[in-house]
Amino acid sequence: MTSEVLTPDLGPGEKRLEETLRPRRLDEFIGQTRLVTNLGVFMRAARDRGESLDHVLIFGPPGLGKTTLAHIVANEMDAEIHVTSGPVLERPGDLAAMLTNLQPGDVLFVDEIHRLPAAVEEILYPAMEDFELDIIIGQGPAARSVRLTLPHFTLVGATTRTGLLTAPLRDRFGIVHRLEFYPPEELAAIVERSARILEIEVGNDARDEIAKRARGTPRIANRLLRRVRDFAHHLGTDRVTLEATRFGLEQMEVDAFGLDHLDRRLLTTIIEIYNGGPVGLKALAASLGEDRGTLEDINEPYLLQIGLLQRTPRGRTVTARAYRHLGLTPPPAGGTLFEEAD
Ligand SMILES: Nc1ncnc2c1ncn2[C@@H]1O[C@H](COP(=O)(O)OP(=O)(O)O)[C@@H](O)[C@H]1O
Ligand SMILES: [Mg+2]
Repeated sequence: MTSEVLTPDLGPGEKRLEETLRPRRLDEFIGQTRLVTNLGVFMRAARDRGESLDHVLIFGPPGLGKTTLAHIVANEMDAEIHVTSGPVLERPGDLAAMLTNLQPGDVLFVDEIHRLPAAVEEILYPAMEDFELDIIIGQGPAARSVRLTLPHFTLVGATTRTGLLTAPLRDRFGIVHRLEFYPPEELAAIVERSARILEIEVGNDARDEIAKRARGTPRIANRLLRRVRDFAHHLGTDRVTLEATRFGLEQMEVDAFGLDHLDRRLLTTIIEIYNGGPVGLKALAASLGEDRGTLEDINEPYLLQIGLLQRTPRGRTVTARAYRHLGLTPPPAGGTLFEEAD
């Protein structure tokens, strides 16, 4: 089980909350400056020319704003958005039905696009490149292929890692952007915006504490804000104070780096069972009883980013910093252990 704080799955209440907090316009989207600037330029140019925007691929770990950006693209282009996902499009006919429903300029958002079945992906190629769709009508000897012309649309694809995409699919996106983890200042701005929308009173010190411990992830920042408000209430105040924040984070087992118990378990397992590493992801997942994809998409990117974990050709290794973070003494240098550069 992924921990509650990290899980990308949303309960019904949280889904509604995400809708409420979702920036609608590009200028409400906090951070990711290079992406925001470039996307703004491309959208304005396409609008001025009266064309549809090039296909856009957004990749990055869960909770960084992929779905939000897909909706922003549609809003800014004054277009309808049609939402689907890789696993939902099981057969070519499922995608054909979506494509034939599009109006000129519409946005087709395919979440988890790396999970498209190969047969579906193949009909996407001519649709993206030439706005053409080949469909088979009838069955057996009477079957014939019909070519339909599609309106010019914009495909927005989202995926956790581009490495999961086939090269021909990746090559058909004109605009490819990677979302980075957010620095604490940007997360603080996100927490402030969310608090304003949700009418939660939050002190600056509490806001900054949440931002520091949100694992670089807006979804987690918003989630922590809401939970910490409940802890504040439990402590008898409706104002989110630093004290309530620290208490709440401790109760939720979120540590000073924003790591949760699965992150820590991952690090301790490498240390205790694999002597600090290197260990392959498959063996690690088996030792932890966790899904390999979860570790790779959710835990690992952040641990790599903050320098607790290193990826080597022979597998994952923990850094001296990870030992110290867990209150352990790193083994003497010169062993298999990599000292982090700082
Ligand atoms: N740059 C941002 N500024 C403000 N809020 C953001 C930003 N990025 C994400 N969020 C918020 O975080 C939550 C998760 O974003 P979402 O787009 O669903 O992430 P993803 O699709 O990458 O998993 C949403 O509620 C969204 O409003
Ligand atoms: Mg999403």
